[in-house]
Amino acid sequence: MELGLKGKSGFVGGSSRGLGLAIARELLSEGASVAISGRDAARLEGVAAALAQEFGAERVLPVAADLAEPTAIDNALARARDHFGSLQFGIANAGGPPAGPAIASSEGDWQRAFDLHLIGALRFARNLLPHFDEQGFGRLLFLTSVAVKQPLPNLGISNGIRAGVAGLAKTLSLESRHPAVTINCILPGYTRTERLDELAAALAARQGGTPGEVFERWEAEIPLRRIARPDELARVAVFLVSEAASYINGVALAVDGGLSRALL
Ligand SMILES: NC(=O)c1ccc[n+]([C@@H]2O[C@H](COP(=O)([O-])OP(=O)(O)OC[C@H]3O[C@@H](n4cnc5c(N)ncnc54)[C@H](OP(=O)(O)O)[C@@H]3O)[C@@H](O)[C@H]2O)c1
Repeated sequence: MELGLKGKSGFVGGSSRGLGLAIARELLSEGASVAISGRDAARLEGVAAALAQEFGAERVLPVAADLAEPTAIDNALARARDHFGSLQFGIANAGGPPAGPAIASSEGDWQRAFDLHLIGALRFARNLLPHFDEQGFGRLLFLTSVAVKQPLPNLGISNGIRAGVAGLAKTLSLESRHPAVTINCILPGYTRTERLDELAAALAARQGGTPGEVFERWEAEIPLRRIARPDELARVAVFLVSEAASYINGVALAVDGGLSRALL
């Protein structure tokens, strides 16, 4: 299958490690050019240098930014657009909110997650959709969580905020009405990244036992009986932003090994 990503360019949020980095790497493998981002500039530069060596310096642009800052998303997208000439895809992603029960989580943490994930998603859309409409093609993808379909234990803020992002994404897909601009969500289940190690440690501290035992409990819940690898999520994200996914719009696609018990 031809994905049609050769020569296309885009921005992947939160991509100095974890799921975002796995997605950036797969996009580069398919011939796209990618702006990667993260707050830790030194780490980001190191990752960009390694990717540039593998895929070519002109196809990798590091943009260090805290995407929770009010103007950061506009500035980062402007830099990527200036560098590549135009953008055909944008993937809204950043680090997840702190773990903990909903009520015990501070209002400050709720507010920060609201700003980073929900208002951040809106900022990606406000910036990219007019640009996509004008050029006659575009893919906007929000990376959220399987928590949209089934709330996850000890992730109160994530459970609350991700649902808002899914509602926004669906609304945008209904409002957009351009035949070649799609807006979708991808919902990772438990996937082996630093974030998941942190969540296992937080849950072990809260419930007792070791992080290893938390992983065993998670695996027992998943019909495929294992935690995903980042590349398994990344390949689906790459498909959703490709030309090949031309008639997929307004979906919230779980890549969770069957974890969610929801029918749809
Ligand atoms: N892994 C899973 O099992 C799983 C499951 C469901 C949902 N998710 C969600 O998927 C997203 C990605 O997860 P992950 O596992 O890849 O997380 P991760 O390993 O923690 O990586 C997060 C990435 O985002 C960057 N980042 C964090 N906060 C940022 C900010 N404010 N501005 C810009 N960049 C930022 C990080 O770099 P810096 O720290 O340098 O900024 C890093 O590159 C998260 O929202 C997570 O909650 C993950």
